[in-house]
Amino acid sequence: MLFFTAVALVSSLVSPVFGASYQQTDSFVGSQFYSGFSHQTISDPTNGRVNYVDVSTSKSRNLTYASGDTFILRADDTTVLSASGPGRNSVRLMSNNQYNSNSVMVFNIRHMPQGCGTWPAVWTVGNNWPNGGEIDIIEGVNNQAYNQATLHTSSGCTMPSSSRAQTGISLVNDCNANDNGNSGCGVQIQNANSYGSGFNNNGGGWYALEWTGSFIKIWFWGRHDSNVPSEVSNGSGFVNTDSWGTPAAYFPGNSCPIASHFSAQNIIIDCGDWAGNVYASSGCPSSCVDFVNNNPSAFADAYFDFAWVKIYD
Ligand SMILES: *[C@@H]1O[C@H](CO)[C@@H](O)[C@H](O)[C@H]1NC(C)=O
Ligand SMILES: *[C@@H]1O[C@H](CO)[C@@H](O)[C@H](O)[C@H]1NC(C)=O
Repeated sequence: MLFFTAVALVSSLVSPVFGASYQQTDSFVGSQFYSGFSHQTISDPTNGRVNYVDVSTSKSRNLTYASGDTFILRADDTTVLSASGPGRNSVRLMSNNQYNSNSVMVFNIRHMPQGCGTWPAVWTVGNNWPNGGEIDIIEGVNNQAYNQATLHTSSGCTMPSSSRAQTGISLVNDCNANDNGNSGCGVQIQNANSYGSGFNNNGGGWYALEWTGSFIKIWFWGRHDSNVPSEVSNGSGFVNTDSWGTPAAYFPGNSCPIASHFSAQNIIIDCGDWAGNVYASSGCPSSCVDFVNNNPSAFADAYFDFAWVKIYD
């Protein structure tokens, strides 16, 4: 049994007054994901053609695998499913710790699920959704080209329609989960290496979230980008987001009281199967459910490979 080796520093003494300097409080590498995260065996809240398995099943079927600085979670890629039985085995992990605002999360990822029928996500969620808020850091479906970062909130949270200091493109400005079929307020990241096969063929990269009482920012750097801060790439004990440049997605608090729309967040990592209505328009064959049932080998690339996750506050 490996023990969780978070380095608990004197975070209460260094709460950043100006919100830019942060000290590492949690680090998850390799087997530490097993002690820092729990398998959620719930039925998929989004009705995917998926069956989330427990930790012993995921280990015995190699749907999670830890070695050195590698932690893999994936969907089953060997079993043809009965149409009347459960969905494809996969894994949904939730962090045991909850995190508060004035924090930074950095995800160093080598590979993410790609291809038809996949719906990978790295996201955080607060209590009593949507009142406690949801921050989608990585999310997409099928052969989507660009990552989409999105907030989902209760009513009364909108984003400005112009003048956002971000490199991404705003898709919807109303974050209210009760509007627009819960599309949330998404930002498309303008980098073909940010998602799916583009991300994987480039060796992955780093995603980072900064969440304060007055804004939420998300950055992405591809594996070979020359502007990735060394404190990000080396998993430094300290980070200062002032030096990170313009974020890919910027969600200001002007017309969204961030503090009242986001409670303490748990991190969730999942690799579900999408049974949604954009399947055909993604250029994918057959119907989504038939494809997921009958083409296990199509899911050989439906896995996350994490180098590490670091949390700062
Ligand atoms: C489990 O998965 C890992 C990572 O993909 C792989 O290296 C290993 O060989 C697999 N083990 C088995 C028993 O299939
Ligand atoms: C990581 O990068 C930071 C910022 O450049 C530097 O101060 C620190 O010494 C580096 N740490 C390691 C272990 O290389």
